[in-house]
Amino acid sequence: MKPDLRVSIGGLELANPVGLASGTFGYGSEYEELVDVDALGALYTKAVTLAPRTGNPVPRIVETPSGMLNSIGLANPGVEAFIAGKLPGLRGRRCAVFVNVAGATEEEYLEVLERIEAAAGTGPRAGVDGYEINLSCPNVKHGGLAFGTDAAQIERLTRALRDRTRRPIVVKLTPNVTDIAGIAKAAEAGGADAISCINTLVGMVIDVGKRRPVLAMGSGGLSGPAIRPVGVACCYRASRAVGIPVIGLGGIMSSGDALQYLLAGARAVQVGTGTFVDPRCAMGVLGGIEEWMRAQGVERIQDIPALLEV
Ligand code: SIN
Repeated sequence: MKPDLRVSIGGLELANPVGLASGTFGYGSEYEELVDVDALGALYTKAVTLAPRTGNPVPRIVETPSGMLNSIGLANPGVEAFIAGKLPGLRGRRCAVFVNVAGATEEEYLEVLERIEAAAGTGPRAGVDGYEINLSCPNVKHGGLAFGTDAAQIERLTRALRDRTRRPIVVKLTPNVTDIAGIAKAAEAGGADAISCINTLVGMVIDVGKRRPVLAMGSGGLSGPAIRPVGVACCYRASRAVGIPVIGLGGIMSSGDALQYLLAGARAVQVGTGTFVDPRCAMGVLGGIEEWMRAQGVERIQDIPALLEV
């Protein structure tokens, strides 16, 4: 029997649990020739901010043991260029599209969401099925991580966003906190439909010859297999703290990695840095999950978390 891979996020049905993480897949069209994006469950776009951003000075990427450090600085064309140039292409997508929203102030988050809501309209070809709220970018001075470590601010901002859309809201959390369960609860209390965890961990690489950090901004966000155990533990804790679905990400390179997240309590997953190693990584993850479910006799994705023996 074919396993049931469907996942529900805030009433939105995803065909399967595998998504492409924000910031690693552009706005979908960039990988068109290599990947059948629509065969996946969801695409999470690069962050969209109110004004265009060129991002941080270079170097802004460095490879690390089992991972990479980035300090992109939310480079993106801004919400108006997104609406004019990217949204039309997203309207043709068959997979779910979550637009990742970022801002330096609460007002900016709201303004970005309101403008996209107005442009997208309603109906099946809106080009946006939900929002992922970026409260966790470590590479900007205002917003991002500064918001994501403050439970009261997360709850307030999530509630304000909730009041402005009927589409599902996913709040993307940072692992750079002492109590991820408390932060997850704040997002749920504000009306989030799901949380995604984890974003990157703050890290630094120093060039000892030059006696200065490799990244122009000094520090950046660590991603890749090196952070996977942190992500799995965060999902385990967060999924036991909230009733809404948890979407797991951080270092997923294979179906086995994704299954760790699902067994830890995640309802869906995202592939990020893995795409840089193999553009078809997410497709392999999806195929492997289905194969594992058949072999284990698991009928539905949502049955997986209960299979963890602790
Ligand atoms: C960046 O653009 O700096 C990375 C995005 C993020 O970590 O949320």
